[in-house]
Amino acid sequence: MKSTKIIIKTKSKIYPIYFGDKILGSIGRIIKKKIPNIKKIVIIADNKIPPFFLKKLIFSLKKYNTKIYKITANEKSKSFKTANKLIERILKDNLNRSDCIISFGGGVVSDLSSFISSLVKRGIKFVNIPTTLLAQVDASIGGKTGVNSFQGKNLIGTFYQPDFILIDTSLLKSLPQREMICGYGEILKHSLILDKKFFFWLNKNAKKMIYKKNKILLKYAIIKSCKIKSLVINKDEKEKDLRMLLNFGHTFAHGFEGARNFSKKISHGEAVLLGMIMASKLSFDKKILPLQHLNLIKNHYIKLNLPMNIKRKFKKNEINKILNFMKKDKKNIDKKINLILLKKIGMATKPNNYKVNENELKKFFLKEFV
Ligand SMILES: NC(=O)c1ccc[n+]([C@@H]2O[C@H](COP(=O)([O-])OP(=O)(O)OC[C@H]3O[C@@H](n4cnc5c(N)ncnc54)[C@H](O)[C@@H]3O)[C@@H](O)[C@H]2O)c1
Repeated sequence: MKSTKIIIKTKSKIYPIYFGDKILGSIGRIIKKKIPNIKKIVIIADNKIPPFFLKKLIFSLKKYNTKIYKITANEKSKSFKTANKLIERILKDNLNRSDCIISFGGGVVSDLSSFISSLVKRGIKFVNIPTTLLAQVDASIGGKTGVNSFQGKNLIGTFYQPDFILIDTSLLKSLPQREMICGYGEILKHSLILDKKFFFWLNKNAKKMIYKKNKILLKYAIIKSCKIKSLVINKDEKEKDLRMLLNFGHTFAHGFEGARNFSKKISHGEAVLLGMIMASKLSFDKKILPLQHLNLIKNHYIKLNLPMNIKRKFKKNEINKILNFMKKDKKNIDKKINLILLKKIGMATKPNNYKVNENELKKFFLKEFV
């Protein structure tokens, strides 16, 4: 099956992303070509992925000594405890630095597997096969690895780039609708912060893409999204400045997820969608974003039935809890909360330009509850 390739060029590593529909079966051939010295492979797989896909993956890897570790993917399992258990198993199975870990799952499995890969024997070969829309357009790209702490999300982690990424759109067949919407949040984010034309393309095509899983539209949006993200990380791999743009809506999102104890009550993607509409409203309140642009964004949310009403998800008395988690965000360097806001559709504010104090944010949240 024909695949498209883009190259990621970060300071620490240059590697390809292969895109296509039904290209999972070519993984063995790609591994042989790209990482020829591998003998053992550990696949860390999400246990919700249909067996058909796993069989296909294993069949393609039949020449290798392959082990499968299945895990339950949720924010609770994205922990140091799980990472430690898996690392002990990998060491017991005696993998060498020249052997390989394959992540076969969504953002949770991807963050966890890449974290483990960066630690085992100070770095083992790593291949990422993202199986959710969110992981295909965001989590698998850029080399941020991590696990959650009781103190907050993604507070423990490393930067570690894979040897290659394989994105097969047919893996999205079994993905629930709720997860398609979650992944869409990150696609929308890429358009809002950096590409106005893409936003208008999404406004026209996203409904068919999310709700009908139209393959042609999906491939276009996934590749476009990966290209936007790769442009950013190629310039700033370690999040010193430009990469912070990708946090648009995410500081709010961390607050929402934290306030729900990282449970399934609000998923990461839903929190990001809610976070982006809040960040857009705040941008308007602070006279940074014109009303016309805010209305275009609001109408887009309405048209696609995206989560946008904080009152439906939270109670007024939970504002302090949300704020507490927002304050713990890694991007804050002083007591203020560091936010990426929007100047217009396709253009975000520069990193570290908007720091908001807790009281100001509290007043802003309270207005949402009247
Ligand atoms: N490292 C990064 O740069 C980065 C970027 C964005 C998000 N993230 C992280 O990604 C995580 C969210 O990722 P996610 O939304 O993919 O969540 P996830 O990994 O929890 O997957 C969502 C759900 O889909 C199921 N699933 C996965 N693939 C499936 C398939 N093909 N068919 C059916 N079900 C399937 C999972 O079991 C899970 O229930 C968060 O932890 C977030 O912090 C990381």
